[in-house]
Amino acid sequence: MSHRPSSGIAAVSTALLAMSRHLEVRDVLKTIVASARELLDAEYAALGVPDDHGGFAQFVVDGVSDAQWKAIGPLPRQHGVLAAMLRDARTERLADVREDPRFGGWPAAHPEMKDFIGLPVKDGDEIIGALFLANKRCPRTDGGCGFTGEDEELLSILAQHAAIALTNARLYERSRELTIAEERSRLAHELHDAVSQKLFSLRLTAQAAAALVDRHPGRAKEELQQVAELAAEAADELRAAVVELRPAALDEDGLVNTLRSQVQVLDRAHSARVTFDTLGLKALPAAQEEALLRVAQEALHNALRHSGAERVDVSLTRRGPGAALSVTDNGKGFDPRTVRRAGRHLGLVSMRDRASGVGGRLRVNSAPGRGTTIEMEVPGG
Ligand SMILES: Nc1ncnc2c1ncn2[C@@H]1O[C@H](COP(=O)(O)OP(=O)(O)OP(=O)(O)O)[C@@H](O)[C@H]1O
Ligand SMILES: [Mg+2]
Repeated sequence: MSHRPSSGIAAVSTALLAMSRHLEVRDVLKTIVASARELLDAEYAALGVPDDHGGFAQFVVDGVSDAQWKAIGPLPRQHGVLAAMLRDARTERLADVREDPRFGGWPAAHPEMKDFIGLPVKDGDEIIGALFLANKRCPRTDGGCGFTGEDEELLSILAQHAAIALTNARLYERSRELTIAEERSRLAHELHDAVSQKLFSLRLTAQAAAALVDRHPGRAKEELQQVAELAAEAADELRAAVVELRPAALDEDGLVNTLRSQVQVLDRAHSARVTFDTLGLKALPAAQEEALLRVAQEALHNALRHSGAERVDVSLTRRGPGAALSVTDNGKGFDPRTVRRAGRHLGLVSMRDRASGVGGRLRVNSAPGRGTTIEMEVPGG
């Protein structure tokens, strides 16, 4: 053990920089505390991250056995010298912590501590923790006892590493929250696309059944059958949206067949004539097929719900290595610029997101009195 501490710190520093990119913050803190204890030749080392309630959110120790740690009992509170360090952001170097006027005693099983050094861990002006050590080996190699000015310098480098690790952890936590928000909006779109359309058809079919029940009980029965099927499909779609599965039919029947049969169902269910046409389509990556299907569904749904059209034509054709979808109605049309992103209208936003999500493009061609065409292109694989 002939290493000089300052060469030791360079090695520790390099190791920490490498590991803080990969590891849990707690592992980084543990390494910092263990390195501090070794480099400063102390019996005990600890790092505490205060919470807002006078306690510690994290507390990492080195030099205390598990059995000892259990015997000591609950985590320390922010009091005495520790509290002063956290409050005043001051470095404390004491020959005997027990003689300090701020010392408030410790629990029965707490190891006896004498000389003490503690540094605040700071992110800018904010104090985010404290790194402290006790009982340096005595006598030191140079004969004296207690922590030195050089120790203080070394410790301040480690405190800076701890600050980086803790700040990274906070940033990571914040980015995770953002990801959750994105996930929530994805799910909202998914539910909108899959489930609210089914529920709308369900409502129409139930109304039809109600209108038929007196005069044509037989046909009402058929409609009710349809209600049951739609409800089952809605339940399936809901489940699929939640676990992020693709529409089951896509895997079984492929895009062309799935879309064709959905168009046929709509053609029968609505007074408008709904047609499907396809030409030369090649197999596409799964995500692009799913996006095409979802966009076609929403465009069809919008055409049948909003446009009052007599005809809705769907076509799906090969476009280079990719594909192009178009859904055209001869209904009343609308001004796409006046449909705001906000509020309850999710359909158009969702279509755009789906297209761009797979590297594709969406065009909305519509004007009052001129009908509507929704076009989508995907690049293929
Ligand atoms: N094919 C269409 N013909 C006429 N108007 C349309 C057509 N498609 C969309 N619109 C108009 O654009 C608006 C926005 O459509 P969008 O799909 O974004 O929302 P929405 O259908 O009203 O609600 P949802 O969130 O349930 O889809 C519609 O409310 C309607 O006024
Ligand atoms: Mg819509």
